[in-house]
Amino acid sequence: MKNLVELDLADKRVGIRVDLNVPIDNGTILNSERLSAALPSILHILKHTDNLCIITHLGRPKEGNYDEQFSIKPIVEWFKKRLNRDIQLCTDFKSLPGSLCFIENIRFFDGESKNSDILADEIAKSFDIYVMDAFATAHRKSASTYGAIKKSTLACAGILFQNEVENISSALVEGSSLSSIVGGSKVSTKLEVISNLLNKSEKVLVGGGIANTFLKAAGNEIGRSLCEDDMLGIANQMLGTGKIVLPRKVMVADSTSDESVEVVSFDSVPQNKMILDIEFNEEVFSKNASEIILWNGPLGIFEIDAFSKGTDSLVSYLSKSNSKVIAGGGETIFAITKFSSIDKFDYVSTAGGAFLEFLGGRELPSIQALN
Ligand code: 3PG
Repeated sequence: MKNLVELDLADKRVGIRVDLNVPIDNGTILNSERLSAALPSILHILKHTDNLCIITHLGRPKEGNYDEQFSIKPIVEWFKKRLNRDIQLCTDFKSLPGSLCFIENIRFFDGESKNSDILADEIAKSFDIYVMDAFATAHRKSASTYGAIKKSTLACAGILFQNEVENISSALVEGSSLSSIVGGSKVSTKLEVISNLLNKSEKVLVGGGIANTFLKAAGNEIGRSLCEDDMLGIANQMLGTGKIVLPRKVMVADSTSDESVEVVSFDSVPQNKMILDIEFNEEVFSKNASEIILWNGPLGIFEIDAFSKGTDSLVSYLSKSNSKVIAGGGETIFAITKFSSIDKFDYVSTAGGAFLEFLGGRELPSIQALN
């Protein structure tokens, strides 16, 4: 994989694929983390050439049509202010100005999601150097995230992309001293992640709805809690590794709107109650601490105050931990910003789906293309 910082960019036409897919409400950007994360590569390129075209997707518009609701105009405005200069917004690759510009939402272009050869060719031919910096979209085999990389004369990884791969890989290398925490609602959506982390980790603490399925597989009563019965067999096999850490205490209530929460032992859940949060037992991590802790997924329904204690305590613990803490995933990032701040963590990935696929041990299409 070639790196942006190693290349001679002088007088080159450069295209960069970034992931600026951020929440926007009525023209207002609600979270700009991904925009800031794209800056190091953009600023590095601008030091060497002004002939830069920035490419991103936003949301999931119907391909082949322009749809104002998914226009990247608010993002371009953010960059104009941040870079303190005018930036053109282009609607096709044939009329690039030869100076700093954005191309409209790449998902407006026919063939992006199907990785059409025509679009991939068009992108690749527009630049001397194609920079892939959209790690959060590296799991999509699209024209701009896969085909264009393969067809470019010279393609490389951007600074963010490189950082993401290096940081997440550092946790997964053979022999690393790693503990993992996997929360979220369903075992089925994180099966590959849990399996792969069980191979790489000293222990894997489970939380959220995932913990319910494991508690039931271990023979416990879980009342009316969310559970995937068809995952009990596989959960049982995973328990056989001896590495799964189950919660010792759980928070139960009648429903998500019931605020009279009771804390009970994991083996005394009343038949008529639901587990909606777990107690985070920091001793599991502080005793024989691993060098690295990897976290994805909340421990309870943290959006509701009554069931946020587990996730809140976990975030506070990780914010102060001496281990290298790596976290990622959409809900995880939301929880970190709710209870602490991203800068208290050693590394927080900008990716959601791509982060999970990477943790699951899959080779992401963009990485494959860059290699
Ligand atoms: C994300 O937000 O996870 C990425 O931008 C990918 O978006 P997608 O799931 O619409 O492909």
